[in-house]
Formats: sequence, structure tokens, C-alpha cells
Amino acid sequence: MISVRAATAADLDALARIESESLSGTWSRDALADELEKTFARLRVAERERTVCAFVHCWLVADEVHVLNVATDAAFRRRGIARALLESLLEEVKAKGFACALLEVRASNAPAIELYRSLGFRDDTIRARYYSDGEDALLMSLRW
Ligand SMILES: CC(C)(COP(=O)(O)OP(=O)(O)OC[C@H]1O[C@@H](n2cnc3c(N)ncnc32)[C@H](O)[C@@H]1OP(=O)(O)O)[C@@H](O)C(=O)NCCC(=O)NCCS
Repeated sequence: MISVRAATAADLDALARIESESLSGTWSRDALADELEKTFARLRVAERERTVCAFVHCWLVADEVHVLNVATDAAFRRRGIARALLESLLEEVKAKGFACALLEVRASNAPAIELYRSLGFRDDTIRARYYSDGEDALLMSLRW
């Protein structure tokens, strides 16, 4: 059974661990703590048997939802957890009147791209050499 809720300061250790293991630690624990205080930032976690196993991080900018990161603990992948997390987020932002969700993803990140496509995101454009290591970004969006 997966449950989804807003992240709190008590989740920071789990968030930082999943971030460093799954996303190369771009966001430090302190940076994630700062995000919890920002009015335009949202962090949601998925729990399974009271263990935080995934999170989504986004910014709400005007009527757009910018999905910054989604990550599932490697031990819990391919069980529908990231999908449940994103579906929960999308349900909430649609109800609140946001117009679209936007994101960028490494062009080689097939699992994430498949996840987003399975939720209805479409490929918009490639931003060449967007990442510091020279990899291209795929920009995707979902409008409703
Ligand atoms: C991408 C990621 C968040 C997916 O998390 P997850 O909880 O395993 O995803 P789900 O089980 O909800 O998968 C939902 C759908 O996504 C797609 N998907 C997920 N993992 C996939 C994989 N390894 N290969 C292909 N498709 C995949 C499938 O369409 C899947 O549906 P299905 O299992 O019914 O086929 C996870 O692999 C991860 O944390 N990766 C490292 C962090 C990352 O790259 N995040 C994205 C940054 S933009």
C-alpha cells in the first residue's frame, strides 16, 4: 500500500539519501530544507509501510507546475510508486487551476522518459548540451 503526502522536516534525511543515491545529490539536505520553506516549492513523498521510498519536487510558477525531480529508492522501483506520486501531484494541481506541467530530462534517461510519457507528457523539444557534462535535455509538457 502506497501513501502520498507532503514532505516535512522529518523526511529530510530520507529525501537527501534518495537524492544522493538516485540523482547524484544535486540538492543537498540543506538545500532541500530551504525548499520546504519556499511558498512556491512543493515536495511530496511516497511511503510504503511507513518508509519513505520516493519523492517529487516541483515549483509552482504562475499557472505552471515545473517538475524538478522525481526519484524512487532503487530498492522500490518498478512498483508504480513514481507514477502514483506524480498522479497525486497532477490531480492536486489540476484541481487548483494550474494549466500545465513542464519538465526537462536527460535525453538518455529512458526510465524517466517512459514514466512521463505514460502519464501523458509529450516531447516538446531538445535543448542541446543542456547539462554540464554536455548531455542534451528533452523538454516535455503536459497540458490539460
Ligand atoms: C524514473 C524513476 C523515478 C521511476 O520510478 P519508479 O517508481 O520505478 O516508476 P514506476 O514503477 O512508477 O513506473 C511507471 C512507468 O514508468 C516507466 N518506467 C519506469 N521505470 C522504467 C524502466 N526502467 N524502463 C522503462 N520504463 C520504465 C514504465 O512505463 C512504468 O510503467 P510499467 O511499470 O507499468 O511499465 C526511477 O527509475 C528513478 O528514481 N530513477 C533515478 C532518478 C531519475 O532519473 N529521476 C528522473 C529525473 S528527471
